[in-house]
Amino acid sequence: MSEPLLEVRDLRTHFRTEDGVVRAVDGVSFDIHPGETLAVVGESGSGKSVTSLSILRLVPDPPGRIVGGSIRLRGRDLLGLSPAEMRAVRGREISMIFQEPMTSLNPVFTCGEQIAEAVRTHDRVPRRAARARAIEMLELTGIPLAAQRADEYPHQLSGGMRQRVMIAMALACRPSLLIADEPTTALDVTVQAQILELLEQLQGELGMAVLLVTHDLGVVAETADRVAVMYAGQIVEQAEVGRIFAAPAHPYTRALFAAIPRMDLDDQELAAIPGRVPPLDANRALLERGAGAGRGAPGARRALPARGRDRGRHAGPGQRGGSPCLTLTPAALSWFDRPLRPARCSRSRG
Ligand SMILES: Nc1ncnc2c1ncn2[C@@H]1O[C@H](COP(=O)(O)OP(=O)(O)OP(=O)(O)O)[C@@H](O)[C@H]1O
Ligand SMILES: [Mg+2]
Repeated sequence: MSEPLLEVRDLRTHFRTEDGVVRAVDGVSFDIHPGETLAVVGESGSGKSVTSLSILRLVPDPPGRIVGGSIRLRGRDLLGLSPAEMRAVRGREISMIFQEPMTSLNPVFTCGEQIAEAVRTHDRVPRRAARARAIEMLELTGIPLAAQRADEYPHQLSGGMRQRVMIAMALACRPSLLIADEPTTALDVTVQAQILELLEQLQGELGMAVLLVTHDLGVVAETADRVAVMYAGQIVEQAEVGRIFAAPAHPYTRALFAAIPRMDLDDQELAAIPGRVPPLDANRALLERGAGAGRGAPGARRALPARGRDRGRHAGPGQRGGSPCLTLTPAALSWFDRPLRPARCSRSRG
């Protein structure tokens, strides 16, 4: 097996608020190998974005702070790097794309200028060469008339086009790890599928690893090699994708899967996980209680932290945006019918 590209160990990121310390990430550990896709799933507020931002050391400080753990990229601890060294890692070795491209694109520069700028931050190439690379990256993302688009401003493009520009920008320096935090949630389903296909294709061409944050278990089934399930700042379960669909072990993961609408059943009642994520200063005890009860199988669902009835529901199709939407496509569904098999090898591991 290859050496991990990224090793995260016991990562703890806290926020100081007026109401006390929020343990947004509370002892998270995982590896990502070169070329593989790790999907991180979990309901809203479970700490997925804070984990992603912590890897790039982009957590707003104050109020946030990484208070413990290590993040190693090819053995080098990113938490020990100077701000200048960290800037060299961002974009060059690890890039990130976000859910809403308008927040990452600058409205007063053309798309081409912004991609060229990303290139020139890391490679001391002349402006003309950087522009040529920008157009080449736009072509790679499948944007028609790339040279023309390069001279347009973000507001002149559609949402799907803007997402492609952001992908071109993120990949301009051919990073070894791409962090994609809900990269398609804001897009309609057909564009979503195109963008995911594009990411997979570019991943193959550039050989990069992807940390994919998503609410969509259909996307997970189609793109991920391994899955990490987050709940209340912790990873409660981590496994190869087929295994987690076939035999989710933690009560929370089972509840998450039970909340997915099935496209092959009529008149089903949509299950909801009752209550909401507990305050993030009490999570450890709750999780341990949950895991313990899970071993006794039938009572597993009751092992979830009991809370109010009206929030934190995983709703059915159509609910998007602020709340998580868990949907299951036929591809994902097929996992349920497959027998449990030995771990599927990820693409990159020998
Ligand atoms: N700037 C901040 N100040 C205080 N608390 C914060 C801040 N940013 C995040 N948090 C808290 O950290 C926790 C984890 O947030 P995070 O954004 O990582 O959730 P998430 O899993 O990405 O959710 P979503 O699926 O909605 O994007 C939440 O309880 C959130 O309130
Ligand atoms: Mg998030």
